[in-house]
Amino acid sequence: MAAFRRGPSSHRSHTQSTQMISVPYVRVINGLNPGRVIIIKGVVKENALSFAVNLCFHSGISLHYNPRFGDNVVVRNSFLQDRWGKEERTGGLPFFRGQPFTLTICCEAQSFRILVNGHEIQHNYNYRHAFVYEINKLEIDGDISLTSVLTVCCEAHSYRIVVNGNQAHTYKHRHTILQQINMLETSL
Ligand code: GAL
Repeated sequence: MAAFRRGPSSHRSHTQSTQMISVPYVRVINGLNPGRVIIIKGVVKENALSFAVNLCFHSGISLHYNPRFGDNVVVRNSFLQDRWGKEERTGGLPFFRGQPFTLTICCEAQSFRILVNGHEIQHNYNYRHAFVYEINKLEIDGDISLTSVLTVCCEAHSYRIVVNGNQAHTYKHRHTILQQINMLETSL
């Protein structure tokens, strides 16, 4: 995937901004593999201290993504063999109290590619736990309201899109040369 772009804000629907789903949000997910994308939309609470998105496997956390408003930082880390590893803290805090956000996590060959509000930021995270297909749980917790959680899986014959962990939509590929896809666009 070569680029990422936000769609025009006119795509935003009124219902999108009013329907919230509960936090903590914990859903079983079916293993990750390169090409799978998780898109989380929410609003940071006015008095937020922090929130976290965890991609978990049976005995640990492959990716802990943890914006902290007190420290003005997004901490990324893994919890492996019963302990936290070294924190990654570069790239600043692109979330704001009281503001909506879109967090996109793309599972790539060697790393999670992470975008906030459609922007490339320095938050990409190289896999420490290489077996991303073992990831079986998505947890979202902390000082946010959640609007939607989409997972998009590019499968052999179709896209499978899971909305808020329960409704699955499939869309058969019409344009079959998937290697030509070079941009992911979302409306905020
Ligand atoms: C700890 C914190 C954990 C996690 C970890 C990441 O200090 O208690 O919740 O955020 O840092 O390194």
